[in-house]
Amino acid sequence: MKLHILSDAKAVSAAAARHIADRVQAGGVKVIGLATGRSPIAIYELLSAEVAAGRLSFADVTSFNLDEYLGLSAENSASFHAFMQRHFFSKVPLLAHHIPDGMAQNPLAEAEAYEAKILAAGGIDLQLLGIGSNGHIGFNEPGSAHDSRTRIVTLAESTRIANATDFAAAEDVPHYALTMGIATIMSAREEVLIATGPAKAQALRAAIKGPISPDCPASVLQSHPNLHIFADECAASLL
Ligand code: GLP
Repeated sequence: MKLHILSDAKAVSAAAARHIADRVQAGGVKVIGLATGRSPIAIYELLSAEVAAGRLSFADVTSFNLDEYLGLSAENSASFHAFMQRHFFSKVPLLAHHIPDGMAQNPLAEAEAYEAKILAAGGIDLQLLGIGSNGHIGFNEPGSAHDSRTRIVTLAESTRIANATDFAAAEDVPHYALTMGIATIMSAREEVLIATGPAKAQALRAAIKGPISPDCPASVLQSHPNLHIFADECAASLL
């Protein structure tokens, strides 16, 4: 595990964006796993700026997002489809980009098909991850099995509350989502975890210092052979 502690969120974004850009430039990332949430927004801005300046290209990179709410269409501004369009896909051409379809008629089949698409693409070279304040990765809430694959999950109430700011009303936050599983995430050849702000300090401590346990989904990353964590001093304050 490589732990990079930076002064603040801005420095974390700069360091993580540089790390990802270097990997892509070196040709080591043909398939990238992408994340939503507030944590990666500045990373997407920095990567987009590099692409606009002609210093970086994702033209031969395929992306797979971690998750999507069930029941939200790409047109819904709170969907992760809309988030990715806003912050990255509208600015950065990729070979292909994939997000689980929250409107799938048959979400079970969609989950299986998503997993198959990742495999067919050759697996994920680098997976970008945020962390929930309850230790979740993707939408794998506490209790998620280590052998879980892409599936339908029930969101924890704390997650629905944390994400309510993206919705007009708190009750609009869906109760269910499609997410890559813990085993799907762990199959990536490199993991890049971002944690910023005091609200993530407890979760980051449990993830890094705690036992590897489904109680803290991110703790499984301790057993990944190629893990980079970028944290600011606030998030790292309990380490
Ligand atoms: C979201 C996402 C996660 C993300 C996490 C933290 O709900 N499903 O992939 O890492 O919660 O979000 P934020 O970066 O906004 O704190």
